[in-house]
Amino acid sequence: MTYSLSSNTKVRVTVPSFAKLNLDLRVLSKRSDGYHELRTLFQTISLKDSLRIDFAVAQRTQIELESSVEIADNLVVRAAKLVLEHLKVRAHVRFALDKKIPMGAGLGGGSSNAAATLMALPALAGKPIPFAQLSALAETLGSDVPFFLHGGTALGLGRGTELYPLPDLPQHHALVVSTGIHVSTAEAYQALRRDVRNALTSAVDFPILREFQAIAWSLDSVGLKQLPLKNDFEPAVFQIHPALAAVVRKLRRLGAKPAMMTGSGSAVFGIFGSDAEARQAASAFRAGVTYPVRFVSRRQYRTRWHRALAPASGF
Ligand code: C5P
Repeated sequence: MTYSLSSNTKVRVTVPSFAKLNLDLRVLSKRSDGYHELRTLFQTISLKDSLRIDFAVAQRTQIELESSVEIADNLVVRAAKLVLEHLKVRAHVRFALDKKIPMGAGLGGGSSNAAATLMALPALAGKPIPFAQLSALAETLGSDVPFFLHGGTALGLGRGTELYPLPDLPQHHALVVSTGIHVSTAEAYQALRRDVRNALTSAVDFPILREFQAIAWSLDSVGLKQLPLKNDFEPAVFQIHPALAAVVRKLRRLGAKPAMMTGSGSAVFGIFGSDAEARQAASAFRAGVTYPVRFVSRRQYRTRWHRALAPASGF
């Protein structure tokens, strides 16, 4: 993509900010840096926020955010400051965030908003940032942020920031149920009581790693239905919030396979055979807690971004 913005132009773009599911999430040991060593399968889904950005190069940096939902310490503002400092660009940036992704639900909404900002501002400033540098900036904002620079289906290792692409999965339909229960990510990790280990992998981890590897290798040949997908947070979080386990059981009764929690919760999801089946299942829940979604492939993710940034790139 070529950028052709003159320094005094004002530009407006509206970019999508998709949510994610963790189709599988294994937490290994606690690391000496305080984070946990993970293995996870990320997948972007069609549930999305929308971020409108007005950008103009200015004498002094000024960042304003108007959001449909009040959010303390918004990651969009932090991401904008970080990326403008990195670019050594001063600008007046006005964001309007239309929030549709439930917050604190394990759907990556805040992280996705941050990544959207990191991807959009360099294009708006006409100064692309090499991908490795952008990933390094993303990591400082949160463990899930780098994934949203890629989208699609991806394998997350380490803190969740070491990412490798996986073949895009076929189109799937899911029903996300977010009841509004708040789970603190840090507390959810604490509740797992993982040991601190210096070695990346140990004999304790091998059975988990073997199972996870088998899933990763079978992803493009065996349907999600047949795979023993797992989220290691479920036992600990379900013990504190039994209502979430009941939602998973209900999704299974309604025909979902698999049905599980995403991230450290509290949203749960079920995969259904079709959009119609997912919508039918939604009618069994109270209004306002269900989100019928489909998977968004990496190709679709990129196309949406390319289109959204066209006004900034002279297309
Ligand atoms: O990176 P992020 O800010 O999203 O992480 C929130 C908290 O979750 C961290 O402060 C840490 O307590 C915990 N965490 C962890 N291991 C990870 C990711 C997050 O322990 N891989």
